[in-house]
Amino acid sequence: MTDGVHIDRQALPRIVVLTGAGISAESGVPTFRDSGGLWEGHRVEDVATPEGFARDPGAVLRFYDARRRAAASALPNAAHRALARLERALGDNVLVVTQNVDDLHERAGTRNLAHMHGELRRALCTNCASRPEWDGDLEGLPPCPSCGERMLRPDVVWFGELPYDLDRIENAVVDADVFVSIGTSGAVYPAAGYVALAAAYGARTVELNLEPSDAAVPFDQSRAGRATDIVPAWVDEVLSGGSRPSR
Ligand code: OAD
Repeated sequence: MTDGVHIDRQALPRIVVLTGAGISAESGVPTFRDSGGLWEGHRVEDVATPEGFARDPGAVLRFYDARRRAAASALPNAAHRALARLERALGDNVLVVTQNVDDLHERAGTRNLAHMHGELRRALCTNCASRPEWDGDLEGLPPCPSCGERMLRPDVVWFGELPYDLDRIENAVVDADVFVSIGTSGAVYPAAGYVALAAAYGARTVELNLEPSDAAVPFDQSRAGRATDIVPAWVDEVLSGGSRPSR
């Protein structure tokens, strides 16, 4: 109870938003699989696997140092800001699950956030497993702030590794009234499987993407367009009650 106004969180829709590289594309952060995307110029095996890192750590550290610097100079766009506005209105009923390793959601104001593929702005110590915040380069093998060993790598989940926060994410997906997928091609699991899980537990599913993706199951609703156009419009609808979910 605040100032005589009772906010009943139970009556508000529970929304899980899954985001991918497409939401940051208009901030100038390249996607992976679009033309000109990161996987066109780099082999996944070389820069996004533990084996690639073992073969050539310097090249891998340089790749992520460059991405960290580029992300630091990018700015959140209208789509990131719209999701922060949704959270301000609905509180913890909104969870943003991002596959992105940039920090544009948090810089836009999102707080309830799961970085399932890790974060460019953290390092991971392969000696003591600490995950310090990290803004500089890793190529010069700086010492770990916790154990002092020079065994830091980017805290980014590579192929063959387990994503972060899976229990928290799956619980939220199962409980969701609405599941929204934004700017992701649906090519990488487990993220790509969440739409099927959400649908199986009764959520309404919505896709907001430049073009409909090859999703594991069809979305109930699919809107095509640029994230900076269609995400703010969708948030406006939800907050005006025009898109009230039903289970
Ligand atoms: P992808 O590059 O696979 O897909 C990006 C999606 O965004 C595509 O479906 C595009 O159509 C869409 N898109 C591009 N520009 C857009 C815009 N302006 N507005 C809206 N949509 C737009 O990127 P992800 O699906 O995020 O994982 O890739 C998933 C994972 O694959 C990444 O997290 C990364 C990568 O390998 C790891 O590195 C573990």
